[in-house]
Amino acid sequence: MGRPAPRAPRAPNRREFFRRSGGAALAAAALPLLPLRSTASGPVFQHGVASGDPLADRVILWTRATPPDAAATSVTVNYVVATDPALTQVVRTGRVRTHAQRDFTVKIDVTGLEAGRSYYYRFTALGASSPVGRTRTLPAGGASRLRIAVASCASHAAGYFNAYRRIAERADLDLVLHLGDYLYEYGSDEFGNVRPTEPPTEAITLTDYRTRHAQYKRDADLQELQRQHVMAVIWDDHEVANDAWRNGAENHDSTTEGTWSARRTGALQAYYEWMPVREPADRKKPQRSLRLGDLAEIVLLEERHSARSKQLPAPIPVPGVGQGFKASGRFLDPTRTVLGAEQEAWLEQVLAASTARWKLIGQGVMLAQLKALGRTNADGGSIFVNPDQWDGYPPARDRLFDLIDAYPPLTAAPNVVFLTGDIHSGWANDITRDPNNPDVEAGGYDPASGQGAIAVEFVATSITSPGIADPDGTLAALVRSQNPHVKHVDLDHHGYVLLDVTPERVVGELWIVDTVAAPSGVEAFSVAFEVRDGQPHLVPSAQTAAPASAP
Ligand SMILES: [Fe+2]
Repeated sequence: MGRPAPRAPRAPNRREFFRRSGGAALAAAALPLLPLRSTASGPVFQHGVASGDPLADRVILWTRATPPDAAATSVTVNYVVATDPALTQVVRTGRVRTHAQRDFTVKIDVTGLEAGRSYYYRFTALGASSPVGRTRTLPAGGASRLRIAVASCASHAAGYFNAYRRIAERADLDLVLHLGDYLYEYGSDEFGNVRPTEPPTEAITLTDYRTRHAQYKRDADLQELQRQHVMAVIWDDHEVANDAWRNGAENHDSTTEGTWSARRTGALQAYYEWMPVREPADRKKPQRSLRLGDLAEIVLLEERHSARSKQLPAPIPVPGVGQGFKASGRFLDPTRTVLGAEQEAWLEQVLAASTARWKLIGQGVMLAQLKALGRTNADGGSIFVNPDQWDGYPPARDRLFDLIDAYPPLTAAPNVVFLTGDIHSGWANDITRDPNNPDVEAGGYDPASGQGAIAVEFVATSITSPGIADPDGTLAALVRSQNPHVKHVDLDHHGYVLLDVTPERVVGELWIVDTVAAPSGVEAFSVAFEVRDGQPHLVPSAQTAAPASAP
């Protein structure tokens, strides 16, 4: 998204918050988590460990072995994988060599593992040992319940990763889903001034992006999150530059910053070196799906570098908001795309082939309409506010709606839940084609019953990145008055979404932290909504209890 004006971090309001670190989530668990660490590792493994892209039989393990000698060209790294935290029940050992050409990062795709099981791992190199990490394979077959934390938008400069630490402390998670803006390209004081950036200037070159990844990976809270939980990640724009599209970005000036192609190539190289993801054949196309038994399929979409058309300008002044636009003129050009024809066809195949109860589609930018002025589609007078989100690509969004409407080929309900980040605010939305038209028979939507909705969307607020100051909820009320499909919006807080999935329903809980201006151990449950099997609209829900036996 665009760069909002920085604002002063909110002071903690203790009355709002009731849950301190180590509360409900830990109490219910049989302590499968590793002992919590409060400090970073020694010099060789100073960037910690991570794991990602789990399947039923394999997972990526990640670390970096930093050589003490700056002139070193390679390092030999040993690893061990076991079924217990003490690493006595060993299932795999191995040795790999990493090189300066890959910035001494290590990625191992460990195969032959059992489904739905936790494993523990450690690296050794240069006489040093890494912290012990914990990972987990996806279930195969009949999983009855899954708990997934959903995160996005973590500007290191904008604050402390307290929300990451709260997720790390949860003993009730099967997976952490990160929907992008894992890091930001800006220099110091350009997007938050709580912590200085490394390098101090905007990241442009491969070396810059490597340095930025290294800074993030040295953060103790992020390290703890990645040490405790397996992740599935997809990028948004800031992993390269703000409002990226297939041939450029709002925050790239080729007259002073070199070619876009060179910049993106370097940024993506650093990304694949430093992130626990399985590398695709084409680095610009990391879209993939992860099957969680019969219960859910997680689909991760690429919405920046493989196909996206350039964002159009928003020409209409909107008091108090900035600029807006109507869905007319060039916005209706059907050749403009977010996913591209190839990915649209792939998504159609994935949805058609999936027999999982729930299709959880993780993606970058908000799918639901966001209007400053809400009118029906036939009226054409609606004013949208963000041309970088799906609102800026109406025909492409209609094609996505068509995919859901065309499903199923057989008899099952589509049960599609979109999971989104990007806009530094928390949302719970019904997905519907014409939200301001109350005539359901004519393709409209009834906000009271949810009739006319075809899917739902949970938008995770940011870990730290600034939202919009809305202390008394005035702006949120204005948003809801024009957008009846928005069941909840919180423009003000940071935190994450906890998703609790069973065959009968998916509950999305919005959790918020008290501050990002300083380290803090306080978080609060905010609100919950659920979608039920075969009924694709949100209804109010309640905080779910952690399962009796944790993963
Ligand atoms: Fe962001």
